[in-house]
Amino acid sequence: MACPAAGRGLGTGVADTRIIPANDDDMKEAVRGAAGLLAQGEVVALPTETVYGLAADAFNADAVARVFAAKERPSFDPLIVHVSSKEELKEVAEVPAEIEPVLNKLIAAFWPGPLTFVLPKTSAVPDLVTSGLPTVAVRQSSNRIFRAIGRELGRPIAAPSANRFGRISPTAAGAVLKELEGRIPLVVDGGACRDGLESTIIRIEPGDKRPEIRILRPGPVTKKELQNFGRVKVEKKRLIDVPEGAEAPGQLASHYAPVTPLLLFDKAEDFRPEPGKRYGLMSYKGDPKAGYLERHEWALVESLSPGSGKLPEAAVRLFHVMRVLDEAGLDAIVAEPVSETGLGQAIMDRLRRAAVA
Ligand code: TXA
Ligand code: MG
Repeated sequence: MACPAAGRGLGTGVADTRIIPANDDDMKEAVRGAAGLLAQGEVVALPTETVYGLAADAFNADAVARVFAAKERPSFDPLIVHVSSKEELKEVAEVPAEIEPVLNKLIAAFWPGPLTFVLPKTSAVPDLVTSGLPTVAVRQSSNRIFRAIGRELGRPIAAPSANRFGRISPTAAGAVLKELEGRIPLVVDGGACRDGLESTIIRIEPGDKRPEIRILRPGPVTKKELQNFGRVKVEKKRLIDVPEGAEAPGQLASHYAPVTPLLLFDKAEDFRPEPGKRYGLMSYKGDPKAGYLERHEWALVESLSPGSGKLPEAAVRLFHVMRVLDEAGLDAIVAEPVSETGLGQAIMDRLRRAAVA
């Protein structure tokens, strides 16, 4: 991957990564410890309701640079800023008057929660956070540990998912360690993430009669839910265009990817196993009727939502199951598609990005 300034290389000087629990008993200590490190310009991994984030003080450009280094993230891919209140939102974003009414309604309906707005940025946000873009992506997390740390710090928190660039997002503290051990000083363990998929990202345009809501990344807040607030369009384009001369153009198309090739077919009959190779199946319900289960002697089968097949359960388990299959020494993973309604749209978006072209 294309960033030589990874981890300690940038002078983070980190050797051991501490992991501290944040249960009811030790919550105060965890909150103080994490906020203290953030205030000193360090980076720490924190739980959110979507996935674990790698947090830094959003107003401290040096701290933000550490986030890019630890993740090996190219500097042209901007970060999400997490705010604790509407006042903090105003510190990082200029809300255009034309969209303020609909923005307020969306905030009332979905914040704190997994909905991120792309808005014009204020000058207080370092250019590094937004990769030089005039806009900033903002959300308020509903995770109580994350919120307590944000309040204690008293400043907005920049936090991308706590994985190395292009890899699977972590939905548990152990998965963060696998990605970033030795590169960051602290992981706050808040258990498994409630949603398991990254936030829905939208941009709002005033529109003629009704506001237009453009979904830049599908997520836990679905198209159907957003339709109550305006005309909704799903952007087909990637979130950010890779700038000319970038070291590895095309990287951004592949995201959330396991190291083991992940195969996605239009129909089960298209899967033609090569002799001698070990394949694993990522099944939706573990149901033979989907056409995959009995098609092959799978080396390993993992189901996203065994039995009845519930999309919220599938979303919560997706990255965990992807990681389990990735660590099983297979030649390839075959992913069964899920129904593309509601949360299924976000799940299929992640599977398509993880799949080999
Ligand atoms: O649920 C989430 O959103 C998690 C948790 C930690 O909050 N964060 C997350 O961050 O998924 P990250 O960095 O892995 O994904 C953020 C995405 C990136 O693909 C980035 O390109 C896009 O947001 N983004 C950030 N700023 C943007 C902007 N100004 N315009 C368009 N896209 C932007
Ligand atoms: Mg990410």
